[in-house]
Amino acid sequence: MKAVTPRHPAVLAPSLLASDHAALGRGAATVAALGIPWLHLDMMDGHFVPNLSFGPETLAALRRDGSRLFFDTHLMLSEPHKYVEAFAKAGADRITIHIEPPFDHAAAFAAIRAHGCVPGLALNPGTPAAAVKPFLADVSLILVMTVQPGFGGQAFRADMLPKLRQIAQWRDEQNLDFRLEVDGGIELENAPLCRAAGADTFVAGTSFFKAKDQAAFAAAVAAL
Ligand code: DX5
Ligand code: ZN
Repeated sequence: MKAVTPRHPAVLAPSLLASDHAALGRGAATVAALGIPWLHLDMMDGHFVPNLSFGPETLAALRRDGSRLFFDTHLMLSEPHKYVEAFAKAGADRITIHIEPPFDHAAAFAAIRAHGCVPGLALNPGTPAAAVKPFLADVSLILVMTVQPGFGGQAFRADMLPKLRQIAQWRDEQNLDFRLEVDGGIELENAPLCRAAGADTFVAGTSFFKAKDQAAFAAAVAAL
């Protein structure tokens, strides 16, 4: 199989979903204090995924609390295009939407950019890589879900590695530079496999927030 070229340095995006929901500001401050620039924020609507989590007010409150982190906002929503403005105004930096629900994705990416954010596109484990191929030039990040979205703490799916590798190969062939993010069950044991398949952006909820030594965890990801 053809080798894939890493396009970006490895970045850790701790998922606030796994932090103490009574102290989200403290969770964000912990990330910032470790010098980690990104924070992953998971939005769920109880429809696209069978769970509920945060909303725009959560981001706004974190900004009021002083967080300057890069808000990597993952919208697990059936109608994410209706909430682009709300999340942009609340302080999102990246807004990642899913390919699966039927809406005008190109218009949504344009709206995300028009509101001063950068667009990302996510795909579920059951969705083939080909589904996102038409949009690779329109986004600055592709998010390959390595669990079925909706809940933290699930086991990593190694069967997603060929999909990652395929998308990374298209990135090489088309000379594009979008980030390739993995999300779900990411641990220090499987992150190198994802890196070898082309990933550069590593979401970690449970493994990061439960780590005994979070600084060592962050250093290990940065060294990938
Ligand atoms: C899953 C979310 C993930 C979640 C990952 O629906 O998209 O971002 O927080 O959590 P862990 O790292 O615990 O699998
Ligand atoms: Zn996520």
